Amino acid sequence: MLGDIIYKKLDELAEFSKDGEGVTRLPFTKEHKEAITWLEDLMNSANLTTKIDNIGNLIGEYKSPTKNAKTLVIGSHQDSVINGGKYDGALGIVLPIMCFKDFYETHGALNYNIKFIAFADEEGVSFQTAFLTSKAVVGSFTPDLLERVRYDGKTLKKSLENFGLNADISECKINDVDTFLELHIEQGPILDNKNLSLGIVDAIQGIERYHVEITGFAGHSGTIPMDMRRDAGVGAAFVISRITEFAENLKNIVVTVGCLELIPGAVNVIPGKSIFSIDIRAMDPLLIKTMVDKINSVLSETCEKRDLSFVLERKMKADSTICSKNVINMLEESMKSAGVPIFHMTSGAGHDAQEMATIMDAGMLFIRCKKGISHNKEESVMTEDIDVACKVLAEYFKCYK
Ligand code: GLV
Ligand code: MN
Ligand code: MN
Repeated sequence: MLGDIIYKKLDELAEFSKDGEGVTRLPFTKEHKEAITWLEDLMNSANLTTKIDNIGNLIGEYKSPTKNAKTLVIGSHQDSVINGGKYDGALGIVLPIMCFKDFYETHGALNYNIKFIAFADEEGVSFQTAFLTSKAVVGSFTPDLLERVRYDGKTLKKSLENFGLNADISECKINDVDTFLELHIEQGPILDNKNLSLGIVDAIQGIERYHVEITGFAGHSGTIPMDMRRDAGVGAAFVISRITEFAENLKNIVVTVGCLELIPGAVNVIPGKSIFSIDIRAMDPLLIKTMVDKINSVLSETCEKRDLSFVLERKMKADSTICSKNVINMLEESMKSAGVPIFHMTSGAGHDAQEMATIMDAGMLFIRCKKGISHNKEESVMTEDIDVACKVLAEYFKCYK
């Protein structure tokens, strides 16, 4: 069955990872290069012609013999988080390619074109932003992003050049496309709890990400009395705990501090600086605004009380997205034809589909992952669910118009 074959292919793709637990495949690295070389072979074996655009997206094209044919775009991201799983992003690239290969070999030519995209940087681990490379595809990439600096001090521009790309991002914009479809693991527990293989995504929640720096004064941990300290680490601890409690009470919003650094970071030194990230997600933009206002006021109060100063800088913003009614209808029709129960849901995670939706009809199909575990090496999917997704996608290929 296709499910078993795709499952094994995903095991192969997961080998392109930095050493360590799970999958770590950051954009514009050796592992990224290895992954897209492997994916290019997979695309070629599925009768697709391939190219890599100037921001590192791998694109495989099927050209219909029909004149003035419409173009369907299908894709997801090849990059991972640090110590992530094998399926986040990767499933949404490999499954559609394999499913298309099977469909084409059985049914012959289609009356529309398809572009399959393996986006280079969706997660935003390296450059404190997300959807970098789908932004380039839709034309919303701004040149300042090229100056963003990653973990090794290299700018995005330099990283692209070292990767063999010329960094002329305007070339990446795609035109004459009609629909975007992204298949993705759910990354949450809803489908698993309901014992369903698939869910149609109606909407994707909005995201804002911030960078915070609190500055105090470094000093000796043994000699400075508690009431004379300007401890930037303690400042961060109070801020994090207060904003977390606020989000818990606000409801329908999630807030995460995923990175936290105390500087200089020694057991016997009072931290002179703390640096942390804040990731905020909600469907309702007003809730995000309320949260950001609260973060500002908690930072001001805490820093005033403890003689600290702070900088709060927004690094990323993606609006919440309503998926296209057309795509939702076609997914419903496909599920009906495949005999699969129809279930609708919203996406808590962010996706390239959010950017793609700014220039065309866009929608998503979620596939169950065990216990909703994701961004974790324990991420898992069942071959049976991959088979169900292939059946539905084959129906989508039939009904797409
Ligand atoms: C991507 O997985 C995100 O939602 O951060
Ligand atoms: Mn993803
Ligand atoms: Mn992810």
